[in-house]
Amino acid sequence: MSAGQPVVEATGVSKRFGSTQALLGVDTALLAGHCLGLVGRNGAGKSTLVSILSGLVAADAGEVRFDGEPAPPLGDVGAWRSRISTVFQHSMVVPQLTVAENIFLGDRPGHRGIVDWRAMRAQTRQVLREWDFNVDPGVECGTLTVEQRQIVEIAGALVRGTRILLLDEPTAALERDGVRRLFERVRALVAGGVAVLYISHHLEEVFEICQDVVVLRDGEVVLTAPTPTLTEDQLVSAMVGDIETPVTAARAAASASRYKRKALTEELLVASDIVAKSTRGSLLGASLTVHAGERVGLTGLLGAGVATLGRVIVGAHEYQSGSIRFDGKPLPAGRPDAALAAGIGYIPEDRWLEGFVGLLGISENMTMSIAPHLAGRLGFLTPSRRTAAARPLAKELSLVSRGLNQAVDELSGGNQQKVTVARALASEPKLIVAITPTRGVDVASKELLLAALAETTRATGASLLLASDEFDDLQICDRVIVLVRGQVFTEFTEPPYDNEELISATEGLVAVGRE
Ligand SMILES: Nc1ncnc2c1ncn2[C@@H]1O[C@H](COP(=O)(O)OP(=O)(O)OP(=O)(O)O)[C@@H](O)[C@H]1O
Ligand SMILES: [Mg+2]
Repeated sequence: MSAGQPVVEATGVSKRFGSTQALLGVDTALLAGHCLGLVGRNGAGKSTLVSILSGLVAADAGEVRFDGEPAPPLGDVGAWRSRISTVFQHSMVVPQLTVAENIFLGDRPGHRGIVDWRAMRAQTRQVLREWDFNVDPGVECGTLTVEQRQIVEIAGALVRGTRILLLDEPTAALERDGVRRLFERVRALVAGGVAVLYISHHLEEVFEICQDVVVLRDGEVVLTAPTPTLTEDQLVSAMVGDIETPVTAARAAASASRYKRKALTEELLVASDIVAKSTRGSLLGASLTVHAGERVGLTGLLGAGVATLGRVIVGAHEYQSGSIRFDGKPLPAGRPDAALAAGIGYIPEDRWLEGFVGLLGISENMTMSIAPHLAGRLGFLTPSRRTAAARPLAKELSLVSRGLNQAVDELSGGNQQKVTVARALASEPKLIVAITPTRGVDVASKELLLAALAETTRATGASLLLASDEFDDLQICDRVIVLVRGQVFTEFTEPPYDNEELISATEGLVAVGRE
């Protein structure tokens, strides 16, 4: 197979969901030995195109061809799977199955329908070793972290060894090392003649591994160009369109200095010597204080316990020893309802599991945790009150939807995340605990989301505990605490924070900036 040959082509592809035109007349092709980037804002149509190219969804118009031949019929799963391998944005990992079973889902090694379990486990072990991934192939996927599940997903797509690989935000839940390994694999596959479609909101990744890039805006291709001929600003302008420039406006709004606080003295949250076991990273005696009105960042490597500490505080995770006081009172352990009632809003890491109820509408989800005392005299919210409460938040976060009654299941990944964030803001909490809130959110919306978090805390005097490995997120914080192996390693108190210094601190190398 020679490089540069189209292995899959989409011509004039259109797709409509109700009144949403998700794709309109899209022409694109993947070439052998080539990595094509696909970018666009949340709701631009990227995942819809992936579903059509993977044979999950039929286009309303247009055509998909493989090597110049018409695509197989939609129901012929085997035929599509033999042509194309996909890492979907929404995890396809089955929580009740083991790592090995998930990796070989629908494709188990064996003979005449008899599964060779030993071969499966051995192959899984080998794949996982290549990823430096220390997990037992026999472990159920439901017990894994978001990042580990993502790796299972990627490994599953890679073991099938197809000529076409579609990656829909594969790095959203990966940390730096995982991204580096994924890129090594992608480069090797591309060198071996595989055609890759790569979707990411991290534009620097697109510049790093994609030869060409396609920009979708409102379902249409607005730009196709070799990546080296573009600057990041040009790419963002193409994504956003020239009618609005929320990026620069919001960037200015979110700048650390604008939200700089005076001295904060009143202690709102005091977590002391927390010891908690977790596959997501255990805590070995971690302590932190958040003052009233303060925005505190929390960061660290995978396994450092960052998400665990956030989850312990909101009552989503039990702990073995230590104590938590909130607003002058002890906070009971492992009781999310008690944390919510005490005034703690929560933006969870795994939005599909804890973030929203997919079948319910946007406004119902956003207003779900509004406390009874805010809900009016009768203690419940009428639909019109819900909509009235949800509308300004939806606008502030540039939520793309057909209307506030649309089921959240039908929203694009990034827009689902915005619903989760809005839900936490709508409950007017005293403290917002946000775990990786900008994951999967496009560059322009990310600025809006961070600005909304910063602005809400400023306007309402609420505090923020922001757990994230995205250093951009941490810039809105008054203080950044770095965890290393379940304990506080150091803290930074002077924004803007330097990425290099943060990186070395997360690795526990040098305690730069220690005060
Ligand atoms: N099953 C569905 N029913 C109704 N609308 C849908 C459905 N699937 C997608 N849409 C709509 O189609 C549009 C495109 O969604 P898509 O998931 O392709 O966006 P995306 O570019 O992948 O966004 P993101 O970056 O947030 O993942 C969105 O407005 C979305 O709400
Ligand atoms: Mg998507």
